Amino acid sequence: MSNKEVFQIAIDGPSGAGKSTVAKAVARRLGIEYIDTGAMYRALGLKLLERGVAMDDEEAVRRVLAETEIDFRAGSIFLDGQAVEHLIRTPEVSMAASACSALPFVREKLVALQQQLGARKSVVMDGRDICAVVFPGARFKYFITASDEERARRRYLELLEKGEQTTFEEVLAAIRARDHNDMTRAASPLVRAADAEEIDTTGMSIDQVTDYICAQVCGR
Ligand code: DC
Repeated sequence: MSNKEVFQIAIDGPSGAGKSTVAKAVARRLGIEYIDTGAMYRALGLKLLERGVAMDDEEAVRRVLAETEIDFRAGSIFLDGQAVEHLIRTPEVSMAASACSALPFVREKLVALQQQLGARKSVVMDGRDICAVVFPGARFKYFITASDEERARRRYLELLEKGEQTTFEEVLAAIRARDHNDMTRAASPLVRAADAEEIDTTGMSIDQVTDYICAQVCGR
């Protein structure tokens, strides 16, 4: 594939399946940009939490959304000009992101922004609806999964490493609750697009998945 060609690699899948680690590694290896769309919903979720806005107060959510600027600088998420990566990975923000991502008017604004971000340059973008909604014309489409126990195990180890107090059972329950939210919402529920290739990463290393995707991209 010529270096100048613009193409998108779209990666969807449930939380904790390893999407973002793989997406980052693929982007680094191919020298293209990585866009973490989950971070965009998380940034908005953070702002709504900080403002004490209830997710069912549609008018208040709309007001906050209208005055919110989300962008990426050198691959890092910015909310209203502030770097927020270090604030958006808590369990509270995860649930707030899941809740606000179920609102169609929130998705409409963030999807439009994602389409702008990936329009003119090659990107790896990961999320839940990238293959079907954001870039249905993406040249490469994947749905990355792993069993829920495996995903909970990975997240649990990550949280332990950060020194957070939690149990495996709590993490597994949170993953299942978020899967349920993400798969049963009316607006763009998490499903594998018919033309996305499924990769089950249970028992696979990040390197193996990255090699697999990069080989396909470079081989065409
Ligand atoms: O990938 P993540 O765990 O950082 O995503 C946070 C939440 O945002 C998750 O509950 C699902 C939602 N999300 C979405 O609805 N659509 C996307 N493209 C990305 C994330």
